[in-house]
Amino acid sequence: MAALMAVFCRPLPVETAGLAALAVPAGGTEAKYVALTFDDGPRADTTGRLLDGLKERGAHATFFVIGEQVPENEGLLRRMAVEGHQVGNHTFSHQSLQNAGEHTVIEEIQKTEVLLEEILGEGEYWLRPPYGLVDSRTPQLVKTPMVYWSLDPEDWRLLNTEQVVSYVLGRVKNGDIILLHDFYPTSVDAALQIVDALQAEGYVFLTVEELLAQFDTEPQAGALYASATEERSW
Ligand code: NI
Repeated sequence: MAALMAVFCRPLPVETAGLAALAVPAGGTEAKYVALTFDDGPRADTTGRLLDGLKERGAHATFFVIGEQVPENEGLLRRMAVEGHQVGNHTFSHQSLQNAGEHTVIEEIQKTEVLLEEILGEGEYWLRPPYGLVDSRTPQLVKTPMVYWSLDPEDWRLLNTEQVVSYVLGRVKNGDIILLHDFYPTSVDAALQIVDALQAEGYVFLTVEELLAQFDTEPQAGALYASATEERSW
C-alpha cells in the first residue's frame, strides 16, 4: 500500500493536468503570473482552511514545510500534492544555513527530504532557506533550486489581514514570488483576499516551478530565485 500511495501521490502529473485549466486569465485581460509561497507550516488549524480556499479559487501555491511539523500533518501534505501545489523544504528545525557547519546544512535538508519522499514519493523538493539566509558554500551543498522572494509584507510581524493585503496589492507585478506564512490565521485570510483581487485583474496563481517555466527560466540546482526572472546572489 505504501508503494502504491507513493506512485499516486507523485506531484508532477497532477500539476501538469492542473496547469491548462489555470492558464485562462479572468476578464479577457492579458495574463499576468504570480507565485504565492507559504513558509513554516503545515499547521493543522490554518493550512487546511487555506487549501480549501485555494481549491475553491483554482489557485496553485508553494508550501515550504518544516520537517518537525510533517509527522502529524501527513494528510495536509498529501492534499497539497494532489491539489496541484508544489511542496518544498524549509529545513527540519528552521535553522539558519548561513555560516552553519557543513554537516548541519546537509542534515537539516536531508531529514525533511526523507520525510517528504516517504509521504509524497521521490521527487525534487526545492529549498527555501530559513530567513532567506545562505552563504557562498550553500550552492555546493544544495542539490535543488532554492527560492527567495520579491515581495515580503512581513505578515508574521503585521498579523493584520488588511495591512498584508494592501502591502501586496500596492506593489505586486508580473512574475513576483510573494512570501507569506500559513502559520497565521491573518495570513490565510490575507492570501485568499489577495487571490480574489488579483484574479480579477487577470493574474494567474502558479507554483514557483510553474512560474519559472512560464517565463522560460531553467531552474538550476544551487541557484536562489527571487522572482520568475531574477536570481539573488550573496
Ligand atoms: Ni521560515
